[in-house]
Amino acid sequence: MAAPDTGASDAATPVSILPQSVGGGAALPGTYSAAPLHPAGYAPVDLRPEADEYDGKRWVNGNVRGGSGSVGDSSVARTYDRWAATYERRWRHYTDVTLGVLLDHLAADRYGAILDVGCGTGTLLARLHDQEPQAHVHGIDVSAGMLDRARVTLRGVNGDLWHGTADRLPLADRSVDLVTMASVLHYLRRPSAACVEARRVLRPGGVLAIVDYRPHVGAGSVTDGLIRLYDRGHVRSRDVREAHAILSAAGLVVTHAHTFAIDRAFNGILVLAASSSEA
Ligand SMILES: C[S@@+](CC[C@H](N)C(=O)[O-])C[C@H]1O[C@@H](n2cnc3c(N)ncnc32)[C@H](O)[C@@H]1O
Repeated sequence: MAAPDTGASDAATPVSILPQSVGGGAALPGTYSAAPLHPAGYAPVDLRPEADEYDGKRWVNGNVRGGSGSVGDSSVARTYDRWAATYERRWRHYTDVTLGVLLDHLAADRYGAILDVGCGTGTLLARLHDQEPQAHVHGIDVSAGMLDRARVTLRGVNGDLWHGTADRLPLADRSVDLVTMASVLHYLRRPSAACVEARRVLRPGGVLAIVDYRPHVGAGSVTDGLIRLYDRGHVRSRDVREAHAILSAAGLVVTHAHTFAIDRAFNGILVLAASSSEA
């Protein structure tokens, strides 16, 4: 099963989806609107409590397009659509540990706008909202099923959910202070394209925080092949050194990196990088 960004090149420049009229600093217009699709084909999901009549499906049928076709057709999306109902229960320990480590390293900061790439069921955004209730949160995911759950988790939160992919973000240049990618890196065929996109939407001095997993032993193509037997979208586990190289190649400055234990089979990696003031 292929990840959604199936392009061959790992050095792709980001595709700007911004209309000419939208300058840096602002989120694109159209959030909280149940009306037309975003000009670039993205449709925001309305999180307001009074938006209950919103059927939660309209955006699924929106003509959201990734570089290689419909987001909804990707195998990662299909896998997570299937797993959405049980994801939180099945992966509770893993999620508690990985998101806990991530949050421990972000707690001291103040963020006005946050984007969670591969937001899944919205667990991280909910916790970030608890810590930073003033922040405007955005979540993007390829799986409509996961976004459906996130919409329930985040009801009433000041934020937007987007159905789309990591390498085409529906936000303006320099419009967010923090981008998170929790357990998404191993699905990316072109991680540098996603990181360049993250850098594009970060304000100068903003932070990209990546957490992911790595098998204790046997890391490499055999283990990755075994993982793909049950998680067909899995591309490759990356260690800290490789994540560091990807972020540096994307023009970000790595400020922190460490590994940590998740359980008997897996370690976690945490890498934080800053967008330089000249970015
Ligand atoms: C392991 S789950 C993690 C969910 C959430 N970040 C968390 O930590 O609870 C991975 C999520 O990333 C999403 N995903 C995978 N590849 C993606 C991509 N290229 N763009 C956006 N989302 C992606 C999947 O649909 C899934 O919801």
